[in-house]
Amino acid sequence: MSHSLSQVLQQRLQQRHAQQQYRQVATRSGLQGTQVTVAGQALLNFSSNDYLNLAGNPSLIAKVQQQLSYTGLGSGASHLICGHSEEHEALCERLQNFIGAPRVMLFSCGYMANLALLTTLFERADLIVQDKLNHASLIDAGRFSDATHRRFRHLDNESLRQQLRGEFRLTGVVTDGVFSMDGDSANVAQYLAMPEMNNKTLIVDDAHGFGVVGHRGVGVTEGLWQDHSEQLILMGTFGKALGSAGAFVAGSAVVIDALQQFARPYVYTTALSPVAALTTLVAIESLSDHPQWLTQLQQNIAYFRYAAESEGLPLMPSTSAIQPLLVGDESSCLTLGEKLRQQGFWVGVIRPPTVPQNQCRLRITITREHTEPQIKQLVTTLAKLIAKNKD
Ligand SMILES: Cc1ncc(COP(=O)(O)O)c(C=O)c1O
Repeated sequence: MSHSLSQVLQQRLQQRHAQQQYRQVATRSGLQGTQVTVAGQALLNFSSNDYLNLAGNPSLIAKVQQQLSYTGLGSGASHLICGHSEEHEALCERLQNFIGAPRVMLFSCGYMANLALLTTLFERADLIVQDKLNHASLIDAGRFSDATHRRFRHLDNESLRQQLRGEFRLTGVVTDGVFSMDGDSANVAQYLAMPEMNNKTLIVDDAHGFGVVGHRGVGVTEGLWQDHSEQLILMGTFGKALGSAGAFVAGSAVVIDALQQFARPYVYTTALSPVAALTTLVAIESLSDHPQWLTQLQQNIAYFRYAAESEGLPLMPSTSAIQPLLVGDESSCLTLGEKLRQQGFWVGVIRPPTVPQNQCRLRITITREHTEPQIKQLVTTLAKLIAKNKD
């Protein structure tokens, strides 16, 4: 029996509502920052990935404004037609130096970059093995690739070894650097040192580590490029710590050359806006001039963990800016998120399919410009709400 599209979609949407998994867009007014306004309500923002608070940084905005009439607004075409500007090229060179990678290319977003990596580099005779908690864009990319696709238990070396078994032409091991919903990190150096990784490629999606992790903010691959530039591929995004938009892939010359020739999500799409390229360039330069930004963020993360532990909040083993609080079912998580909102705090309420069933969580993110009193206020409010729930 045939149905109309709206009948089928209504049914699916009703199911989403019934499972308490329906999501809503909230419109923010003004700049991204630690204090934001949503529908007239002032909120302390603990939900953004703008870890260094660069998206609304006045000095970065002024620098971008100064060059805007030279840069212009749009790229006008794909990189291979006429969309690749001086700003894109300067950003690639700056990223190569910053990371210490042989070559870098740009993508319009991280989803596209991941799609390009796994569908272009691996073909039918090949194997892709991914951490089970990798970002959805990597899991989708693995499914869309013609290669055999396997997953190993989260951060479990033994499970990875098992999944590497068998004869394949090429093998790619794929992991998030900092995991987006758990905040813990892959031990990339350990993976590279495994004898089973000999002749295999390691692909790291460090969307949440790039710009904040490591002594210089290179992320989880900092210091590994000199010895592993042929084996390592890094995907990083500009929409999080760098306060801009877009993404890059860093790797060997041959990997970048092949992606530029064969990756359909690179070839058949308009190049990233030069404004985003310029903003990212300015952000990386500012980060190099302000190493204290990284320590300030680390201090805030440590303070949050100290305050939360003092209140007995059930923290997860994360040292990153992502500090989730496991709640369980959808209804309890939604209620907690809503009550926090009523009291002036904005945190991410994360439910399936983003996380497994019964692992709904509040995804609290700590940023550089949060003050200790703001963090303390959040922790005390949370502790009171959780205690009330138990009564
Ligand atoms: C780990 C990870 N990879 C990739 C992406 C996708 O990046 P983008 O937002 O630039 O598409 C995200 C988030 O959006 C992410 O958290």
